[in-house]
Order: sequence, then structure tokens, then C-alpha cells
Amino acid sequence: MTASDLGPVRIGVIGAGFMGRQHIDFVHAAQRAVLAGVADPVAPAGSFEVPVYAEAQRMLDSEPLDAVIIANPNALHVETAIQCLEAGVAVLLEKPVAVDYVQSRRLVEAVERLHGRLLVGHHRRHHPAIAPARAAVRAGELGQIVAVSGLWSARKEDAYYTDLPWHAQRGAGVTLINAVHDLDLLRHLFGEVAVVQAMQTSNARGLEVEDTVSVNLLFESGVVGSFLASDAGVSPWGWDQATEETQAFPYVPDGVAYHVVGTRGALSVPNLAAYTYGPGVPADWHSPLSRTYLPFTPRGSFHAQLDHFIEVARGAVEPLVSADDASRTLGLVEAVALAARTGASLDVARFCADAETAGGASEPPRQEEAAR
Ligand SMILES: NC(=O)c1ccc[n+]([C@@H]2O[C@H](COP(=O)([O-])OP(=O)(O)OC[C@H]3O[C@@H](n4cnc5c(N)ncnc54)[C@H](O)[C@@H]3O)[C@@H](O)[C@H]2O)c1
Repeated sequence: MTASDLGPVRIGVIGAGFMGRQHIDFVHAAQRAVLAGVADPVAPAGSFEVPVYAEAQRMLDSEPLDAVIIANPNALHVETAIQCLEAGVAVLLEKPVAVDYVQSRRLVEAVERLHGRLLVGHHRRHHPAIAPARAAVRAGELGQIVAVSGLWSARKEDAYYTDLPWHAQRGAGVTLINAVHDLDLLRHLFGEVAVVQAMQTSNARGLEVEDTVSVNLLFESGVVGSFLASDAGVSPWGWDQATEETQAFPYVPDGVAYHVVGTRGALSVPNLAAYTYGPGVPADWHSPLSRTYLPFTPRGSFHAQLDHFIEVARGAVEPLVSADDASRTLGLVEAVALAARTGASLDVARFCADAETAGGASEPPRQEEAAR
């Protein structure tokens, strides 16, 4: 009997912290999944009305699972995911897929070798606004896409860093924790990035990791992009404020995370306000633009992601975000970090190839080097 047979998909959650507990709630809310176990070294027995294990392997050995959701610290992602793939269960692995690009290639290789079913938790791709936005971009509804501009800024509480020290250490930082989502989504919308430039600082918080980063992107398609992220600066602007995905962020109606401009029109995302010229109206800066909203049915990305994961676990669909896809996002994120440290324009494909050849030489920059 496999996950493709009748019955709900039996899911174990590994790592029951901030994010793991949300995943547990999503599993409880899903009709075609059931929570079968939890693995977390600090979770008290009896906390989730299912067996609780201190170690993931003990849960894998003891429970007849179809799938797991891995939400443990980033540094454990690759080992835990390989462990679960070797046990033959489908994996939803929280982002980032690994702490560095080279580690992520180990996971890509393991997925291929083990014929594993693995979805990476770049949940925004499942937001109902993204498919229509991507379709509009690809169908030429805005003409030729010229450029995209994005912003995510929200001031994290100081306890975010003091209560969980790994948040302030290598493997975290606003680029890897937050901007990774945006960079992934920008890749999903506009294709691979050819060249990056970046600047980052830790001036506002003075931590080992950066609190603010500014990135310039040249996509292989010729689209030019810029993206600014900060977890020190207060703002209503960014994906998390513009969607109702998590109650942790007050919702800003009609909010915008990305502005997309084309030769015939513009689109803001995720509110999907489309600005275009009417029929016969010349596309020049003196003509009035009309605004319409592209339709989509509101739905939480995490719920949609879990529905998709259930289909992945059943072997019915390929993952929307494969290990290889997420690895490329991580390669881009590392290229951003190195570009910030050196001030260089980096060829992303060459950077990734060199990192793989060097087998780990793509060490992310130390903050004192990067903040300049
Ligand atoms: N998709 C998103 O928007 C989003 C948001 C927040 C966090 N995340 C990701 O979720 C993951 C967890 O982040 P968090 O904020 O919940 O962190 P957290 O520190 O709150 O939770 C991590 C949990 O993992 C547990 N853990 C540690 N070692 C373990 C082990 N060997 N086996 C099992 N569990 C172990 C810890 O006890 C803790 O409960 C990270 O990868 C993070 O990047 C994703």
C-alpha cells in the first residue's frame, strides 16, 4: 500500500518550532492528510496527540509514514532530507533547501539516486496570484517585459535574534531567511538570472549576519531587476504584508511586493493590478493608462502547498519546486552574498559551476567583510 492508494496521506513533522507547528495546523486542516507523528528533541510527549520522538530516525523506524514535513534548523536540512528519502517517504523540506549551494547539490544527487519525491517549501509559488501573474508575463500581456522592482522590509523583534541564536549565525540572515523567497519567486516569474550585483550591511543590528541587502539582477531574458530587503527597517511593503498568508504580519490591503513593467503595460504583484492602454491608444507616456485587476480566487499558499504535496506524495504530480530548482535559487542567493562582499558583478551560472567544482569553496562572506 502506498500514498497513491486510498486513504489520507500519513505525515510526520520533523522540527516542531515556529514553522513546524504551523505545518501541524495545516495538516490538521487538510482533508486528505493526517498527522501521524512528530520528531523534535525538545517537544514534550503528548503535546500533539500523536507519538512524539526525540529523533527523526526513531519516528521513521516506528511509524508507517507516507511523507514528512521537515522544519528543523537549516543546517540539518540536507542530512534529514536524505535520511527520509532513504526511508522511502516523500519530503516537504522547508526553505532554504540547504545552508549552501554545494550542500544542496548533494541533496539533488540523492533525490535522483533514490528516485525521491521531494518538494521544497518555497510556498509563495503556490499563492493563487502567482500562476496568473506568470501567465500574463509569459503571454506578453504587458508587451516585452523590461524590468521588475521588488521590496521586502519589516522590523523583526529583537527577541527573534536573542531567543534563537541560530538566527544570528551563518546560515541565516535576511537574504537567506527572507529574500530567498523573493529571489525564488523572481526566478519563477522571469527565468534564470544571468548576472547579479549586491550591497549588504549589518549597520542597524550589528550582528554577524546582514540585516539589509540591495540586489541588482540581469535575467537571461534581458529583463533588469532590483530587489531591496531589510529586517531592521519598518515598512508596510513586502510579500508578507501584502498577503494574508501568515497572521504574524498585519495585512495591508492592495499591498505590493513587486512592480513589473513591460513595453505595453505594468503589473503589480500580488494584488495583480494591471495597467494597460486601451485598444488603439498609443503606448507612450502621455496616454492614460487604465487599471484592471487580474482575477484569482484567494487561498492560503501554505494550504495550497500542502494540497500539492499530497499529490506529490501520491506520485500524481512532479513537485512545483524540486530540489534542483531550489538549489538554483540558493546558488543565486550565494552569488548575491559574494557579490555584496566583493562588489563584483557575478555571472551566476559560472559562480555555481565554480562552487561545485571547488566542492564548497563558495563560503558565504563574513559580515565584517560584507558590511562596507
Ligand atoms: N516558509 C516560511 O515562510 C518559513 C518561515 C519560518 C521558518 N521557515 C523555515 O522553517 C525551518 C524552521 O524554522 P523555525 O523558525 O520554525 O525555527 P525554530 O527554531 O522555531 O524551530 C526549529 C525546531 O527544530 C527542532 N530541532 C532541532 N534539532 C532537531 C532535530 N535534530 N530533529 C528534529 N527537530 C529538531 C528544534 O527543537 C525546534 O523546535 C527553517 O528551515 C526556516 O528557514 C520557513
